[in-house]
Amino acid sequence: MFHDAEFMPFSPRAKPSLRAAVTNMIENWPPEAYREGHAVMRGLWPILPATVLLTDPVLIEEVLIARAEEFVRDRFQTRALSSAFSRKSLFFAEGADWRWQRRTAAPAFRHEKLIELVPTFARGAHAQAQEWRRTANGGIINVAPAMAQLTFAIILRAVLGQGAETLDQRKFLAELRPRVSTTAWRFLFARMGLPEATPFPGSRKAAASGRWLSDAISRLVANRRAEGRESKDILALLLSAKDPETGRAMSDAELISNLYMFMVAGHETMATALAWTLWLLAKDQATQERLRAEIQAALGQRPIGPEDIDRLTFTRQVLQESMRLFPPAFGVGRAPREDVTIGPHKIRAGELVIIAIWCVHRHEKLWDEPYGFDPDRFASEKVKARHRCAYMPFGAGPRICIGSNFAMLEMTTILATLVRGFRFKPAPGHQVALASHLTLRAKNGLPLVIEVL
Ligand code: HEM
Repeated sequence: MFHDAEFMPFSPRAKPSLRAAVTNMIENWPPEAYREGHAVMRGLWPILPATVLLTDPVLIEEVLIARAEEFVRDRFQTRALSSAFSRKSLFFAEGADWRWQRRTAAPAFRHEKLIELVPTFARGAHAQAQEWRRTANGGIINVAPAMAQLTFAIILRAVLGQGAETLDQRKFLAELRPRVSTTAWRFLFARMGLPEATPFPGSRKAAASGRWLSDAISRLVANRRAEGRESKDILALLLSAKDPETGRAMSDAELISNLYMFMVAGHETMATALAWTLWLLAKDQATQERLRAEIQAALGQRPIGPEDIDRLTFTRQVLQESMRLFPPAFGVGRAPREDVTIGPHKIRAGELVIIAIWCVHRHEKLWDEPYGFDPDRFASEKVKARHRCAYMPFGAGPRICIGSNFAMLEMTTILATLVRGFRFKPAPGHQVALASHLTLRAKNGLPLVIEVL
């Protein structure tokens, strides 16, 4: 078990602050949320209503699994995240529309299909390693943008196939930034009941980026339709999908929305998780060495192939423990269709309930030494002994992340490639601070000393 004061970089506030709401909203989740099964985040009368947070796995199971039909995505998180995911996408669909979109996308995420992508993951990771071999050598590199570029290149390849080569990927990423970094403002204004058009810092730039992205993605879809070429990528799958019951195909608006959503959901979360993982390993050198020993024993110096993934068990555990301490998706929201009672709380139809993943993962009653870094918590017998909602970086129930296996395969491949080739150490003098954007990022990036091995 490795401890470091930075593994809990703030003190939870008993009383919320508006500043925290737009910088690091989880600071406002009260101390009880780490001790009790549910907690209420006090409101800031008259501008911000109180919010119920759930942290008891039994109550969470009720909302996300047992009574999932009674809940929908809440309108506050929907407004916040729609700048990054687009409202017509599978992420926001409900009822029959959601079931159809999810069925349509599911074949792209089957195990056989994902395994075929391992060489793509490995090539991407290898290219990153080549670059660091040229540029790193004992210098300091901010791994957060590096992981964003790497995971973005890979998701584009998975979604667009060879079409990814023709895109200006840096420009795309630059235009995505204002969309994902303004989610906290959108969430706060939605909670305050302000109209969607209310300006906030960065809103103009975000709107301009939205228009640029929408045009660029529309052109991608139009070009692909015009080419009519055979392809095995996710776009091809969405283009050819038909509802088995009605024969309906996806409209252009749905295609564009889903393409946009996959581009964002398929890289931002993984980039965040990988960057935190490298940072944690830089702090905990003994675990980094143990990880490297597993990778070298399993692979030697040859490239990672699909057959290797199952042998990299400790690599997987390191990623799981990293996402326990720093879950990229730090909380999910739900709203009941009708008035309901959850635990002692009466929640009115349409009101927000937050499943506080960050607090669940650091809950005193669920974890020994919750702030320590210990990948052995994810040894299989320990996992079996835990409630299934005690650990949920990918959510739970019917709306569990469709990309969870994609993400674990890709992250395992990348982590193994990078840790085999480099030693990561903390950058002297850097202090970590959290920023709750779309995902839980580090405010000033994650600079690390990178030594070539
Ligand atoms: C470390 C990586 C990832 C994390 C931590 C993560 C986390 C999550 C979480 C917590 C949810 C549930 C949201 C809710 O219940 O409200 C979710 C849903 C979703 N994720 Fe992921 N995700 C990751 C990677 C991916 C990837 C790689 C893709 C696609 C390529 C993806 C696509 C989606 C989609 C489409 C949904 C919505 C599913 C639905 O509503 O049916 N995610 N993700």
